[in-house]
Amino acid sequence: MRAFSEAYLRRTRAGMWADSRDALADLELASRERILDVGCGSGELTRVLAEESSGTVIGCDVDRSLLEYTRGSTENDIEASSKPSVSVVQGDATRLPFATDSVDLLTCQALLINLPDPVTAVEEFVRVSSDLVAAIEPDNGAVTIDSTVPQEATLEHRARNAYLEGVETDVTLGVSARDVFETAGLDVLSTHRYDHDRTISPPYDEHALTVARRKATGAGLADDRATMLQSDLTGAEYDDLRSEWRAMGRDVIEAMQDGRYERTETVPFYVTVGRVQP
Ligand SMILES: C[S@@+](CC[C@H](N)C(=O)[O-])C[C@H]1O[C@@H](n2cnc3c(N)ncnc32)[C@H](O)[C@@H]1O
Repeated sequence: MRAFSEAYLRRTRAGMWADSRDALADLELASRERILDVGCGSGELTRVLAEESSGTVIGCDVDRSLLEYTRGSTENDIEASSKPSVSVVQGDATRLPFATDSVDLLTCQALLINLPDPVTAVEEFVRVSSDLVAAIEPDNGAVTIDSTVPQEATLEHRARNAYLEGVETDVTLGVSARDVFETAGLDVLSTHRYDHDRTISPPYDEHALTVARRKATGAGLADDRATMLQSDLTGAEYDDLRSEWRAMGRDVIEAMQDGRYERTETVPFYVTVGRVQP
């Protein structure tokens, strides 16, 4: 199982539900009494659920260290907004420590793409929810990059394709979550695409500078080398890609020094909502 740090999750979700929550309309949050957010991580979605609902909200994750963060951060937010409390429970998505029909909405965000058997997890969601199940999952195969460094988009596309072929779980699942829901026995009510844009522009923060340095040294690409080599990519092709990648990283740094570097990454998420059949 891939481990996620609280800092990584906060950074990659920053602003995700800040501007518009229209894509969450079919979750009927205002009328929910008890919501369970599975694979809640650092609570990025859990906090949104608590803001939009007056019901009880529970975050669940296998990773105890992330739950500690979620507990602390939601307590602060809740105190500030005088909402009912959020609790956290450690548990595995495929064997949830909750009784049958014990919540009326079960959610997950970017969880199913990390599971070897997402259908088994959704079947477990159907057991625990008496009414709605919602998955907010990306299609990482359709991520786009718009950059002022021309070769960045092409190189990221090549690296991403090799990574997607090599990775063991279906990280494009968002676009086909409807099929997973139907296989698990849910009536699918709706699927809405929701694009999450992540932009780097001047003034550059410390993280943007670190990412640029890791491009120039090839360190970022090297982290995914073993996965990429599980695809058709040969060692020699990886080495070629890495040297082009490093040259691109040097161009990024140069453009940053002149304040002319801008980059937007768009990750398409799909909000799929299903109803448990009576
Ligand atoms: C990409 S993170 C998403 C976190 C959060 N939902 C968000 O969108 O920011 C995936 C999360 O799923 C958790 N996870 C992975 N496998 C799990 C499992 N079998 N049961 C419960 N949680 C799991 C990880 O610990 C991690 O917190």
